[in-house]
Amino acid sequence: ATPPVKKIACIGAGYVGGPTMAVIALNSPDIEVVVVDINEERIKAWNSETLPIYEPGLDEVVKAARGRNLFFSTDTKKHVGEADIVFVSVNTPTKTTGIGAGKAADLTYWEGAARLIASVSTSSKIVVEKSTVPVKTAEAIGKVLKRNCSDPSVNFEILSNPEFLAEGTAIEDLQKPDRVLIGGVDTPSGQAAVAALKWVYNHWIPVERILTANLWSAELAKLTANAFLAQRISSINSISALCEASGANVQQVAHAIGTDTRIGNKFLSASVGFGGSCFQKDILNLCYVCETLGLREVADYWHAVVTMNDYQKQRFVERVIGSMFNTVSNKKIAIFGFAFKKDTGDTRETPAIDVCKGLVRDNAKVAVYDPKVTSEQIFRDMSTPKFEWDRPDYSRSHTRLLDNVQVCATPESAAEGAHAICVLTEWDCFKHYDYAAIYEKMTKPAFIFDGRNVLDHDKLREIGFITYALGKPLDPFLQKVY
Ligand code: UDX
Ligand code: UDX
Ligand code: ADP
Repeated sequence: ATPPVKKIACIGAGYVGGPTMAVIALNSPDIEVVVVDINEERIKAWNSETLPIYEPGLDEVVKAARGRNLFFSTDTKKHVGEADIVFVSVNTPTKTTGIGAGKAADLTYWEGAARLIASVSTSSKIVVEKSTVPVKTAEAIGKVLKRNCSDPSVNFEILSNPEFLAEGTAIEDLQKPDRVLIGGVDTPSGQAAVAALKWVYNHWIPVERILTANLWSAELAKLTANAFLAQRISSINSISALCEASGANVQQVAHAIGTDTRIGNKFLSASVGFGGSCFQKDILNLCYVCETLGLREVADYWHAVVTMNDYQKQRFVERVIGSMFNTVSNKKIAIFGFAFKKDTGDTRETPAIDVCKGLVRDNAKVAVYDPKVTSEQIFRDMSTPKFEWDRPDYSRSHTRLLDNVQVCATPESAAEGAHAICVLTEWDCFKHYDYAAIYEKMTKPAFIFDGRNVLDHDKLREIGFITYALGKPLDPFLQKVY
């Protein structure tokens, strides 16, 4: 029998599209997989020795499949035109202007991709939603596809196949997913499309791990999964504040509750705040959908998860400033880690941006070290305003902002002469530095604020550091000075 799928195209060669297609190609040598993007530089990088994103294990997978059945190209028309299945994994940022600004998803790129698919299609296609989109997007996209394709014999089946991979563990998550979710409509052709995509995943994933649902359930499951995950972090972070105020230890609390199998022990690490391209965006999106449907209370409930996250970042900044005698003006502060989590160079929505901006607003001089984030990226992030920064006096504060940011090539140079170190990403390498040597070269009293609880706090105190461990009983020295 002829295989149901011979060629796959993916629009968008980003953090999701690239690794996902690489793993599909690796496991399905009988399928040609082509990733296309409008960004030539990105495609060039995917075809080079230095891939555009850092992800453990990704190099090996790309090396094994590239040139065999995995290709990266800017020839969107050709490859999308030839494909049986088209994955769409373009960016879907939060709108910054107009109706729903700061909440709704901006579907400009998605619609552009849909129009492109419609214009080049001469054969029927399965179109797969991969990037997170609001509920009922599939329906809207279906209309764009139908009305823009000149060939009436071409049929489009739309599936929702949300991505659950986490950065830093993307390859592992794709090779051995907890589950794959495919949503489709309940018509014979809809179910045939579901079966075709199932056949693709079944190259390496057992059928019992491939779940099917209706389109809207699949779309909503993705938003809900991210909202629940983020909620766990905001919940434990809220308790971390209470621990510091009461003398409890958040790690002991987390361990104790995590042993209840109904709660589970994962995703309970208190932190300076969650980041990443998905959590905040998806929750805001969920809230916006609820508001639009008249479900005010539901929107408010989920919005509290984002509010708590903002509070946690602000609380950290206040702790640093308060502990350092209420002034960080002109003090050098070393920042260890700028990525939103370890094992990635991605900085989208990283808590480090808000923390660094908060410190710089009080005139601190931050010296940032991160093992994977480029200095260009750090400067770009520090100079891009969130829209609440969009004030008439913005350009002035903005110049001062960058004057007070320095990016360092080593942790030692970041810490040299500094009054404090703030750990903002849980990189493993941070555990193994010679903190005694670092301490010697710092200004005294030397502070360390561990926003990820990755360091050996007792040892740091022995060395002489005034040590703040998030959510743990406070050193007497750390009580706020008024
Ligand atoms: C997330 C989801 O996990 C993934 O399923 C979805 O497809 C995309 O969004 P990602 O953002 O890549 O993945 O990373 P994740 O591991 O979920 O971490 C998100 C943020 O939460 C990071 O800033 C991380 O440091 C933080 N976090 C995570 C905590 O603060 N505490 C924890 O216990 C876990
Ligand atoms: C709870 C805790 O589970 C227990 O550990 C603690 O010691 C006392 O409080 P209990 O109130 O007896 O125990 O019952 P539980 O099974 O937790 O159910 C509480 C309520 O939640 C019930 O009304 C139950 O119907 C409801 N529930 C539970 C749901 O609505 N959905 C669920 O998925 C689970
Ligand atoms: P994600 O984390 O969801 O993968 P990224 O921003 O990393 O998001 O990747 C999205 C990619 O989609 C970008 O490289 C962007 O250039 C690409 N893209 C957006 N619109 C189109 C389009 N119409 N055609 C091709 N590529 C597109």
